[in-house]
Amino acid sequence: MSTSTATDGLTSRDAYQALQSHHAEIKDKHLREWFAEDPQRAQTLSLEALGLFLDYSKNRITSETVKLLVALAESANLKNRIDAMFSGEKINTTEDRAVLHTALRAPRDAKIEFEGENVVPEVHAVLDKMAAFCDRVTSGQWKGHTGSKIRNIVNVGIGGSDLGPVMAYEALRHYSNRELNFRFVSNVDGTDFAEATQDLDPAETLFIVASKTFTTQETMTNARSARTWLLSGLGGDESAVAKHFVAVSTNADEVGKFGIDTGNMFGFWDWVGGRYSMDSAIGLSTMLAIGPKNFRQMLDGFHEMDVHFRTAPLDQNLPALMGLLNVWYANFFDAKTVAVLPYDQYLKRFPAYLQQLTMESNGKSTTLSGDHVDYDTSPIFWGEPGTNGQHSFYQLIHQGTHLIPCDFIAFCKSLNPLGDHQDILMANVIAQGEALAMGKTAEEVKSEGTADELVPHRVFEGNRPSNTIFIEQLTPSVLGKLIALYEHSTFTQGVIWDIDSFDQWGVELGKMLAKKIMPELQSSDASLSHDSSTNGLIQRYRQWK
Ligand code: F6P
Repeated sequence: MSTSTATDGLTSRDAYQALQSHHAEIKDKHLREWFAEDPQRAQTLSLEALGLFLDYSKNRITSETVKLLVALAESANLKNRIDAMFSGEKINTTEDRAVLHTALRAPRDAKIEFEGENVVPEVHAVLDKMAAFCDRVTSGQWKGHTGSKIRNIVNVGIGGSDLGPVMAYEALRHYSNRELNFRFVSNVDGTDFAEATQDLDPAETLFIVASKTFTTQETMTNARSARTWLLSGLGGDESAVAKHFVAVSTNADEVGKFGIDTGNMFGFWDWVGGRYSMDSAIGLSTMLAIGPKNFRQMLDGFHEMDVHFRTAPLDQNLPALMGLLNVWYANFFDAKTVAVLPYDQYLKRFPAYLQQLTMESNGKSTTLSGDHVDYDTSPIFWGEPGTNGQHSFYQLIHQGTHLIPCDFIAFCKSLNPLGDHQDILMANVIAQGEALAMGKTAEEVKSEGTADELVPHRVFEGNRPSNTIFIEQLTPSVLGKLIALYEHSTFTQGVIWDIDSFDQWGVELGKMLAKKIMPELQSSDASLSHDSSTNGLIQRYRQWK
């Protein structure tokens, strides 16, 4: 097995230069022309796997583009890199760590070795412990300090210890136990904690402190405030903590120091990155909400996508193709952003979740060998659920000056059928892709009797690319597949860009400076040695606080 990365720099490779020439040839061709010339285009440039139908024909590509992108992936040794990840090699080289989130969703009888040990039995032991805990809480067997049943679950975490849990809770709310209330506290802003707990009874509230490291400033500050809130609500008896706090972490020492019984700790491993951890014990709140069976179905969905990514030829491989299309727009069309537009209210936090997944992973400018890149890396991911986005920022996507590739995600069967809502929703998502691709010419605008001076304002250039993913219905398994699709698309992009998609050094400097500034805010005579702007802001805060 080889961890080998590509030897030549990306832009000097033949495969990259072939794409540059190809781009020069086709960049001005309009999607209207492509579709008119080839009635089979949608069939040729679409792919169905695992119940996900991806229509990528509204991209500015031909079959030749796909071949050249696959050749680029081969020049970057993508297949070897996929094998290296799945087999537990330490591909996170800057942190000297393996990247084995795919083991979290492996079936019970799978064998995945890390440093000579099969990790699958430990993974399933934690899942079993989580399931037993969930049963105790939902059945009322687990009681609070005063003997009350737990009715409120508050997940305290940030980044990967929050975004996955909150996104999955919202996405799978249809499947959730409505007798439990779920709240998520992440921001160190006291408002987040205050608003999340203001209507909760401490006697019925269970806190899950979710932190891989158990040292993250925001989470530990919120966890301490949670303990104070609980104890002041329950008369100050310290022994209440054991009944109202559980922890999810890799750091048993710190969990113990905080005062949480390590018997009520759900562990995971160094080889799980924070933003890839929602299918580990970090998903405890998700399991409490949807139950262990649905949670397993979600994991099985992840696993099916893992197998597809590992085995499907690259031109038939959903995550690889989507990743390569992002590379095509970022590096050849100079696109700076990608909009992810789920046409399902349950996926309202999916774009926020993807922001950490994609940008904390691929927002890098140094190659694995330490050189500065001479090409763009991750685009900015953003989005909102349709149709709300249509009445907000779609104007810019249709008629603005930026090229913004869009991913539309929609489900054909609603989980909440209501009159003709679903037909209206689906008519809109289909219309958006068509409008972006085809646009509207000046002749078409004029033929509608538009006054001459308004014609330029009402023209749509079109030729704006999009992917459309249709799925029958949103289920736990489908959610797992969708998340794994974007995880592996992100990995594909990182391999092409030759960067470490699994570290996050870029969050360190700000954290370090905040630690230095903190005492300067608390003491009005500490001398300040920052730049004049930073000094001025500190002084202004001291004056107004
Ligand atoms: O933002 C940096 C980061 O390390 C993320 O990668 C991680 O998801 C988050 O902080 C939270 O970390 P922890 O789970 O250790 O509290």
